[in-house]
Amino acid sequence: MSFSLKTHLLLAALFAGAVITAFGDPIITVQADQAGAVINPAMWGIFFEDINFGADGGLYAELVKNRGFEFPDPLMGWIKICPSLAQGELSVRDDGPFDQNNPHYVRMISEGTAPFGLSNEGFRGMGVKRGEAYDFSAQIRGMDGSPILRVQLYGGDGTLLDAVELAGFSQNWNKYTATLHPKDTDARARLALVLDGKGVIDLDMVSLFPRHTWKNRPGGLRADMVQALADLHPGFLRFPGGCIVEGSTLDRRYQWKKTLGPTADRPLLINRWNYEFQHRPTPDYFQTFGLGFFEYFQLCEDIGAQPLPILNCGMACQFNSGELCPLDELQPYVQDALDLVEFANGGTNTTWGAKRAELGHAEPFNLKMIGVGNEQWGRQYLDRYALFAAAIKRKYPGIELVSAAGPSPDDVRFKFAWANLRALHADVIDEHCYAGPDWFFANANRYDHYERMGPKVFMGEYAAQSDKIVSTKNRNTVETALAEAAYMTGLERNADVVRMASYAPLFANTDAWQWTPDLIWVNSLQLYKTPNYYVQQMFSRNRGDVILPVKLADIVTSAAGMDALYVSATRDNQSEEIILKVVNPAANALTTQIKLDGVPQIEPEGKAVTLTGATVDMNSMEEPGKILPIESKFENAAADFFYTFPANSLTVLRIDAR
Ligand code: AHR
Repeated sequence: MSFSLKTHLLLAALFAGAVITAFGDPIITVQADQAGAVINPAMWGIFFEDINFGADGGLYAELVKNRGFEFPDPLMGWIKICPSLAQGELSVRDDGPFDQNNPHYVRMISEGTAPFGLSNEGFRGMGVKRGEAYDFSAQIRGMDGSPILRVQLYGGDGTLLDAVELAGFSQNWNKYTATLHPKDTDARARLALVLDGKGVIDLDMVSLFPRHTWKNRPGGLRADMVQALADLHPGFLRFPGGCIVEGSTLDRRYQWKKTLGPTADRPLLINRWNYEFQHRPTPDYFQTFGLGFFEYFQLCEDIGAQPLPILNCGMACQFNSGELCPLDELQPYVQDALDLVEFANGGTNTTWGAKRAELGHAEPFNLKMIGVGNEQWGRQYLDRYALFAAAIKRKYPGIELVSAAGPSPDDVRFKFAWANLRALHADVIDEHCYAGPDWFFANANRYDHYERMGPKVFMGEYAAQSDKIVSTKNRNTVETALAEAAYMTGLERNADVVRMASYAPLFANTDAWQWTPDLIWVNSLQLYKTPNYYVQQMFSRNRGDVILPVKLADIVTSAAGMDALYVSATRDNQSEEIILKVVNPAANALTTQIKLDGVPQIEPEGKAVTLTGATVDMNSMEEPGKILPIESKFENAAADFFYTFPANSLTVLRIDAR
């Protein structure tokens, strides 16, 4: 809502002391002709971790859970189908598998008295859509007889959605394929494999993928989820975690080399979020690595994000075992980092560059940064970081290293890390913060006081918690989104120190989450974006190229320490627009005088994007659009004008100052 200075003063005179007053309005003054630091084009990014069924059961579009029968309980996710008349046997074996790296398979013996088999429940149900094609495949070996294998897709209520028959199985392992076209959309479908007729078959790597994936790559990623990421215009993608990089013990750490090549060869690993929280156990959570490092790099390229892989630094999670790789045995870990640079950037005449080309990407992935460790702390981390840094910088001086500052943004571990990493001339330090909205509001000026020289900041994980960290009561409310937005104005104003920032975690499955709040919530068919998502999007899509100094006057701070307004200003060099981001966290609209100093001419028509709602409002599967950014225009932009910022809002103003 906006009006000119003249109108404003007139109204103020008419209604002085009533609704509007020109006196005491906050004043935002932008030094529009004094461009400050250049903002990192990759400033606003995303952090992906396989938590909350983010990869398996999420981004990785495979619909069959435990497709290779490699879970510790080889039939987890599978149910035997054994009608009373059926006579047969179903067993898990490992003699003569189709792939030594995927040793377990199922033998189905049917006496032919009645169809007999097993069915897979998917990841809390398979989401299938009417009108779309689903590609089934399995490794099958015919051991005896000539039975038919019926491949059937059932809806959650037991309705048959589609079926195909496979027969004539070779005595050697072979991949058999078929396509299913469900006659209805169903969020809880399941896949049944039923043997009809007398005979014996062996079965492994049972897979069902939507034909429509991101870029329609066979065996690819869920298109709607990647689109949601692309729509954020992320500057970088930090992957693959998070705590899963560390593992609760070193043998459960993430090892990127094991995530390449044929999916059946990628060894299964229990996901640490399977058992981390007693209050949210997820016994069926494993990592198949179908989304592996090659796919991560490809995803970065697809969505225009710089890759930021995080590697284990010889330390298991310090909240768990804290197991350490001795310093004199660290070389294989360091070598993994060196090989990763070669995998991403090396010529096709190098060992790992050739591997990348073999996987289908001869061109380099242009890796510029690597994270050494996730959320490590203490002397043990510094000792290991120093060895990594020495080796990587020696061979690849142009690669920037992201180092860890522990799990808290201001405790003893954090201060120890900063002091020592500064002494080690670290490039970028990764800060993490999960705290209440109050913390974010109160810390919006945190970086105003940072030393300008030395390591830069990566706010690698942050999210306002409506209750408290790891509480299941945390919700993605408007209040949390505005707290983050207020904080982000501080990150932006200090873009000379803060190089990058990403919210955490990114995805959560509504039926299988461990951690809340999260940026994007999904089920087997749909997703919804939170107010926090839209805040991230409003910042990344309106980044600007340089910071403009901004001063605030007549800003009231509440007893609780919350300012009446939070503001940052930038300029887009190409469009020559001044971009103002303003958070009004209060329950009342706030009329503000805006002065743009040092610009000769301003186009009266400006663009606004506004996100607002009651502090407790949220989006949901039922109401995905309850809180949305609304675009509008205003007509009174000038070197000195008034704008009214709605209650509980983030507003982005783009003012043409050509
Ligand atoms: O984002 C969830 C977890 O929080 C991450 O895995 C970890 O780095 C942090 O403790």
